[in-house]
Amino acid sequence: MKLLRAALLISFSFAAVAHADTKEIWKSKCKSCHGETGKADTKTGKKEKVADMTVAAWKTEWTDDKMKKIILDGSKDNKKMKPFKDKLSAEEVDGLISMIKAFEP
Ligand code: HEC
Repeated sequence: MKLLRAALLISFSFAAVAHADTKEIWKSKCKSCHGETGKADTKTGKKEKVADMTVAAWKTEWTDDKMKKIILDGSKDNKKMKPFKDKLSAEEVDGLISMIKAFEP
């Protein structure tokens, strides 16, 4: 029982670290266009008409797979959305996707 508790505690602290990392990545690599909370309420976000990631219609349209593809390969329609496949690991991309899905309106 004690061991189990210790194991749980350790895995929780790992999860916390992973979460903090994802936030840092978002802040340094994504926030300038997509905004702190995904609303694209930034200068570049407005100029490039970046979509608000918090609205229901957006969440329905953008499945995990579609998000993964555009994050890895970039957008053909708007070069501002660059490919991140050389800059982020698979885990980091998954973390970002979970974070985006948790954005609230
Ligand atoms: C320099 C500005 C810029 C940065 C930085 C940026 N994006 Fe984007 N992003 C865009 C633009 C512009 C689009 C819309 C592309 C289009 O119209 O095809 C977009 C589209 C997307 C989409 C598809 C959904 C949509 O509304 O079109 C996802 C998911 C996404 N970005 C995630 C990210 C993530 C994650 C990061 C950081 C790792 C990031 N972006 C960094 C500008 C940016």
